[in-house]
Amino acid sequence: MKLERAKLKQLMKDKLHKAGLIDSHAEVISEILTWSDERGYHSHGAVRVEYYAERIAKGGITTNPEFKFEKTGPASGVFYGDNGCGYVAAKLSMEEAIKMAKETGVAVVGVRNISHSGSIGYYAEMAAKEDLVAITLCQSDPMVVPYGGSESYYGTNPIAFGVPTADERKVIFDMATTVQAWGKILDARSKNKPIPDTWAVDEEGDPTTDPRNVANLLPIAGAKGYGLMMMVDVLSGIMLGVPFGKHVSSMYADLSKGRDLGQLHIVIDPSRFTDIESFKKNMSASLDELSQMKPSKGNDKVYYPGERALLRKAKYDNGGVEIVDDIYNYLISEDIHFNRYDHKNKFAE
Ligand code: NAI
Repeated sequence: MKLERAKLKQLMKDKLHKAGLIDSHAEVISEILTWSDERGYHSHGAVRVEYYAERIAKGGITTNPEFKFEKTGPASGVFYGDNGCGYVAAKLSMEEAIKMAKETGVAVVGVRNISHSGSIGYYAEMAAKEDLVAITLCQSDPMVVPYGGSESYYGTNPIAFGVPTADERKVIFDMATTVQAWGKILDARSKNKPIPDTWAVDEEGDPTTDPRNVANLLPIAGAKGYGLMMMVDVLSGIMLGVPFGKHVSSMYADLSKGRDLGQLHIVIDPSRFTDIESFKKNMSASLDELSQMKPSKGNDKVYYPGERALLRKAKYDNGGVEIVDDIYNYLISEDIHFNRYDHKNKFAE
């Protein structure tokens, strides 16, 4: 079914508030979940509300956390999240990074001990809106085999970049470091369809085309994706002194405990390196050149990263955001959650 943006956001906010989150935090998380859904990132939108509500209700997200930002150098800082809402901690810490980058030219801000922060492109976009370039990356729960391995070690460890242009376009390159999200495997299961053998492996670590045999996911681009995934864990895990690799908490193992995840924001002011107006003009020019390129067979055009998400948003702006009926029914129900996630395996089964 289709829901108007404001209505969807309000329903999510009300549910998370009812679960115990303070109003200002429920406001931020529902805004970012709506941001994801309206861009077609449904894996990180309303579908997550029931899980968050269960975790909040069971004490695994601090509902009124003591956030603390500590400057550790002229261009560095640590934001302590007290296992509060990851969305709020990631947003507030990006605000600190933006402020610092405007003052010093560059900012590196570590975010410690937070819960899940969703679609991280949102935080990169915050910086791009301020004419800054951002990179943000974070840990995720282990469900990916390292290159050559048979057991999960890393999470889908996403990375997002945000870059401004001279017009309203912003490049938001926002990706998990796995070939496909777990949601795509679930989709294939529900449709009884095989998956390409490049997506996932079975219990032995061998590639599988049967979505029911999937034990773990595969990194993008073989050894290179594995290396990238490792670097995300180094920068947002080991470097921040939070659990790393296979020690990162599972999303569904124990919903009464904080997740202690890490995230890192790097924000750069391009005006410290070149004239800002030429930077933005050249960014726009490069997007124009890409868009004017003759597409290859089977493609209608060359898109810039984030463009297709904006096309989906434009469609939803007119007709409402697409939401699965079951999710809508949950959102309008009186129930906070149905006890569906606690102590489940990494795929919430
Ligand atoms: P995706 O595969 O849909 O897109 C990845 C990137 O590629 C995007 O920037 C997209 O604009 C670009 N792209 C895709 N198709 C394109 C095309 N045809 N031409 C040009 N560019 C194209 O995204 P993915 O990897 O499935 O991630 C989805 C969301 O999940 C992201 O928002 C990510 O931050 C979030 N995520 C969050 C995690 C967390 O633990 N917080 C873990 C993993 C993902």
